[in-house]
Amino acid sequence: MSSRFQAPRGTFDILPAEEAPRATVHAAAAELFALAGYARMDTPIFEDTALFARGVGEGTDIVHKEMFTFTDQGDRSLTLRPEATAAICRAYIEHWMHRLPQPVKVWSSGPFFRHERPQAGRFRQFHQLDAEVIGSESPLVDAELIMLLDDLLRGLGVPGLRLRLSSLGTAATRAAYRDELLAYLREHEADLSEDVRRRMDENPLRAFDSKDPGTQAAMADAPRMVDRLDQADAEHFAEVRTLLDRAGVAYVLDGTLVRGLDYYARTVFEFESEALDAQARTLGGGGRYDGLIELLGGPATPGCGWAAGIERILLALEEAEPQPGADVFVTAPDAQTGRAYALVQELRGAGLRAELDLAGRSLKGQMKHADRLGARRTVIIDDGGKAAVRDMASGEQAELDLARAVETLTR
Ligand code: HAM
Repeated sequence: MSSRFQAPRGTFDILPAEEAPRATVHAAAAELFALAGYARMDTPIFEDTALFARGVGEGTDIVHKEMFTFTDQGDRSLTLRPEATAAICRAYIEHWMHRLPQPVKVWSSGPFFRHERPQAGRFRQFHQLDAEVIGSESPLVDAELIMLLDDLLRGLGVPGLRLRLSSLGTAATRAAYRDELLAYLREHEADLSEDVRRRMDENPLRAFDSKDPGTQAAMADAPRMVDRLDQADAEHFAEVRTLLDRAGVAYVLDGTLVRGLDYYARTVFEFESEALDAQARTLGGGGRYDGLIELLGGPATPGCGWAAGIERILLALEEAEPQPGADVFVTAPDAQTGRAYALVQELRGAGLRAELDLAGRSLKGQMKHADRLGARRTVIIDDGGKAAVRDMASGEQAELDLARAVETLTR
């Protein structure tokens, strides 16, 4: 019996037909980043295990149970990167990037690895787009980063977008809050799930993330970090919100938002799509990590950033209404091809997505092709050079004066 190989569980091949939508997401991101002055950088696929253990946090699910860790021939413990931020901060320190004009604004993208239970939108090798701004505490940075991701997702046409926003305060205020929350959890221990009870001493905030109905009910009245911010953190957060309001970015304030990584301080956020299943609905998330560079051995330096999952974005886009293939498809018999070609050029010049047959099809074949491409309207030029325009959805047809085609078709 022959055995056939398959891609490892939780991984996938990207087949030729699947590359185009990915390239579209990348191109849109690259353009936005270029306009906003973010430079691309890349770090290795694997790093010292200790970098993630310290950077992401020993108490997180990622470090606790999701890392692909191996020992190399030199007996060093290495880990396939589960995220980008710790490595980018490592590189910032290693290459003395604090000597560059601050803040340093970078973006990156590539494969990441987490040993999670595979399901729709959750893989063991997945791809992220990542943006980081290191070296400024200004709320302008938080707002700019959020606006960039909002622009990217909206520009791509991701349906059902929702932005959740909160602030986790700084390490000092969080320590006091942690004690308060722990006391609350102890009081309600009987209502909490086994998993939450086991891990509440390590990280009580995780209780907000539980899917267990009993825990969720108990957490409804739990104290929220966002109500315990000190004055400086509260002002910082208010400024971020004012900037987002001014830019017209809609968000929901959500004091239950906790991220799965330990390095956050102050602003945290997540973009979700209602088009996706509840257990993998977050398209991207991030926040401020002002203590991380110092924790990794660098000079005290603030930072903020986000990462978005490319597969999740693509899944959400599959749920979106299909975009019309072209605004106008021009059909014409052979003798009128020159006229059709000139009209297409003119329409494109006016900003319309216009196409014509490029494969010598009959008139009937051209109409079929226009339909298959999802064209919104078709211009039909006849043998005598007269034209009509047909609305492809309603089938309605009207005469078209070719001399005024642009005027009519842009209306
Ligand atoms: P994260 O929330 O762990 O943040 O991941 C960001 C995004 O990566 C998620 O919202 C999701 O879209 C995608 N993602 C994560 N795990 C998987 C998976 N197993 N399968 C498919 N997609 C996945 C971070 O990684 C932080 N480094 C973000 C950040 C940057 N914070 C500050 N700077």
